[in-house]
Amino acid sequence: MAEVKLNFHKPSLRGEITVPGDKSISHRSIMFGSIAEGCTTVSGFLLGDDCLSTIDCFRKLGVKIELNGTDVVINSKGMNNWQEPLDILYTGNSGTTTRLMLGLLAGSNIHAILNGDASIGKRPMKRVITPLREMGAHITGRMDGQYTPLAIKGSQLKAIEYEMPVASAQVKSAILLASLQAEGTTIIHEKDISRDHTERMLRQFGADINVENGTISYKGGQKIHATHVNVPGDISSAAFFLVAGAMAEDSEIILRNVGLNHTRTGIIDVLQEMGANMDIIVDNEDAAEPTGTIIIRTSELVGITIDGDLIPRLIDEIPIIALLATKAKGKTVIRDAAELKVKETDRITAVVEELKKLGATIEATDDGMIIHGENQLRGASLKTYGDHRIGMMGAIASLLTDGSVKLDDADCIAVSYPTFFEDIKNII
Ligand code: S3P
Repeated sequence: MAEVKLNFHKPSLRGEITVPGDKSISHRSIMFGSIAEGCTTVSGFLLGDDCLSTIDCFRKLGVKIELNGTDVVINSKGMNNWQEPLDILYTGNSGTTTRLMLGLLAGSNIHAILNGDASIGKRPMKRVITPLREMGAHITGRMDGQYTPLAIKGSQLKAIEYEMPVASAQVKSAILLASLQAEGTTIIHEKDISRDHTERMLRQFGADINVENGTISYKGGQKIHATHVNVPGDISSAAFFLVAGAMAEDSEIILRNVGLNHTRTGIIDVLQEMGANMDIIVDNEDAAEPTGTIIIRTSELVGITIDGDLIPRLIDEIPIIALLATKAKGKTVIRDAAELKVKETDRITAVVEELKKLGATIEATDDGMIIHGENQLRGASLKTYGDHRIGMMGAIASLLTDGSVKLDDADCIAVSYPTFFEDIKNII
């Protein structure tokens, strides 16, 4: 656990950042490259700890994966030829790896044990296991599969029709990945649309998937063809600098290569509604995953209400949005976001407790938080709870506080943004 003292206080933030690869898409590139027979190449891969955990798991299944900087070459004999792992599949801090692997292994001919770190040990797995068991999966685990460690024995699966009880791309993707090997057509209904990277990547790998008005249909047994995946920059990482640029007194930050998939751009909607001074130049609207450049400048902000179907489109950005709201004129209300309680840590408690230490006027609610704006923040000693996004929220706050900010453990930031501190130096 590395403690750091940050004394970045800098009212003027200027410069350019090329945002590192998207975490969700990087995971899926390794998974799809391992499913497809042949050689899949990936560029712009995120070298974050979570994505390295995914690589490690597939290597244990016998898939050949070579990393050269942010380029990856995956050589697979196809999912029917994965080897039974000799060791536990260790998923580290990664919920996406744990839940999507369950979907993939459910219809395989493999027995495997999945386990992760202490945070993974607290995250709900029943939400994935319930639909997978309905498809015929054999999964056992602590508290009847509510928590890791989990054991899975692949079996013949059948298609299901499933109404999503929560907006979760991890649950949706686990079912979709299981449906690859299921007999029949799997149908999933989503009330609020969660990120759709799995659906897009299925198409990119040559599969036929139908998505219409929140209903997804996928016919099992289709061949998935190896291809090239270009991973765009992660808008969830860009979000930290979007907020820094909007809050600082004299700033202009240019963020390049930002993924602009509509299911992820809730942060842009929020910044626009709060009155941010921002330009977006779309580079590549028709790509499998669209990208663009965002220029953010010092902004006069107003408080807003964030709720409903916007929440899944910015769920990972709520910690940094809460920091943003401390500067806005008036009140910001975040609701319908109870999912925050089951992220890497309980992010409602963590955000509220740590922002209070910085001098914010903020209160927790059952499904979100209320932030009263126009607070001048001060230095403080913060806890990260081992959660990368709480750590980065604290580090960005240090750009704006009088006095230094101490983080008890900054190592966790490498989960999604290993070059975060280098990128901060590009703008101060
Ligand atoms: C992710 C989905 C989201 C998100 C997580 C990554 C994914 O989680 O919070 O960081 O890659 O599918 P949920 O599916 O639990 O909402």
